[in-house]
Amino acid sequence: MRISDKEMMALTDLPFDKAPPYRIKTVEYTIPTTRELRKEIMKKYGYSGRLLPAKYVYINMVTDSGTAAMSDRQWSAMMLGDESYFECRSYENFEEAVKLFTNMPYVLPCHQGRSGEYLIYETLVKEGDKIPSNTHFTTTHAWCYHKGAEPVDLLTEEYLDPDNKSWFKGNMDIPKFEAYFIENAENIPVVEIVIPNNLNGGQPVSMANIKAVRAIIDKYDKRGTKLYLDVARISENAWMIKQHEPGYKDKTCLEIVRECMSYADGCHMSSKKAALINMGGFVALRDRETWQRMQPKLIRTDGYITYGGLSGRDLEALAVGLIEGVNDYYLQDRQRQVDYFANALKSRGVHIIEPACCFAVYVDAGKCLPHLKPLEGPATCLSAQAYIEGGFASTAMDSLQRAREDTSDPLNDAKLKTAPYELIRLAIPRRAYFEPHYDWAAECLARAMSHGTKLPAFRKIKEDRPALEKSEIGLRTFFDNFEPVSEMP
Ligand code: F0G
Repeated sequence: MRISDKEMMALTDLPFDKAPPYRIKTVEYTIPTTRELRKEIMKKYGYSGRLLPAKYVYINMVTDSGTAAMSDRQWSAMMLGDESYFECRSYENFEEAVKLFTNMPYVLPCHQGRSGEYLIYETLVKEGDKIPSNTHFTTTHAWCYHKGAEPVDLLTEEYLDPDNKSWFKGNMDIPKFEAYFIENAENIPVVEIVIPNNLNGGQPVSMANIKAVRAIIDKYDKRGTKLYLDVARISENAWMIKQHEPGYKDKTCLEIVRECMSYADGCHMSSKKAALINMGGFVALRDRETWQRMQPKLIRTDGYITYGGLSGRDLEALAVGLIEGVNDYYLQDRQRQVDYFANALKSRGVHIIEPACCFAVYVDAGKCLPHLKPLEGPATCLSAQAYIEGGFASTAMDSLQRAREDTSDPLNDAKLKTAPYELIRLAIPRRAYFEPHYDWAAECLARAMSHGTKLPAFRKIKEDRPALEKSEIGLRTFFDNFEPVSEMP
């Protein structure tokens, strides 16, 4: 019998603030490499964490998506997966867990985050619409363009100030949102809050911010605008609310998640993140009619409405992982690991975005390599060199790779806007690494930095491939490749 969710929260005086509340049963190997070999590999595979063969990566922080170690509780639940086509038992377990997590009555499974987003954008968004967000993730940004709508990112001034140390710099900018909503309410079917703000330093979103967005929609609404939450990592954001927002320290993270949800009309989750699974997602809604309108779309793309492209065993793993991933002891340890890693980096002189929260540490590569200009790819360079130094892979999100298009003229590269920071995202897979790994990853970045001005600028390679269409323009980051202008050290 696996231990229950309730047993996992039993009162304790064990040191869960200093060590993980779990132990290891299965471990995973990669192929050992040398510096010489890694240099060759980097050259051969295009100097990018995205293109590196994972078998040669010792510590892999390219993403926290689908990379969690599952628990004994999840693996045992998978053995009970019911693989019947219609109305399988596993759907009942999935639905019960999602309802408990969201407190929303209508649920649709989907095979990952973006297929859930498709249901929302296909059902609610049409050409000419505008979709405000604290900052769209790449896939909702892409869905906007696909539907002929405009993605509008309204991130806060606090985030843009590198010296600002406030805890909720991932918020929607309320004055900007209010002004924008008053002006455009007739053309806004959906407002999206991404919790936490993945593309902007992983910064958390406060409860007060979600409430304020809701209040503005309610006050100025002209067409039944819906508030949707992109909740891939909401559990980890809940831990930040519990720690740093007044009034939440005595609530459980599950209670905090449910309160966030109470202000929304619906949510979509890539469960590959905070729900501790390798594949899966869902949409949850308050409104029955919207749920019904989404159903045929789900059947056309993912499968019947009780499996959404997932096998019964995947639904079981999601049901267990969703609740396990919002367990306070586990979240406390998760943030402790993020803090440990942030300190390991800072003590070696690596500049990071502060505070480091939730699921990743973001390096400020512009500050680490001041001799490179934004469009010379300081993050692309530093991330590639860190792999050469010690087999550590990460994701460069600098202006070279992630400059955003001018939404009024998206195909015009001359109008690309540089990023606010030249970031490398070090996204931490859940339950996979421990202190010596974090020390080594920090060491790789520090050694890479120590080459200083010997580290070369990067430039875009002109590839022989058709240009992306306007409807696909948000996905350019997956197709652009880069090279150094001179040999890496
Ligand atoms: N929303 C957010 C905030 C995400 O970070 C992601 C994926 C998605 C939606 C889409 O989910 O991949 O399951 O389709 N983020 C991954 C990452 C890919 O590395 O940040 P998906």
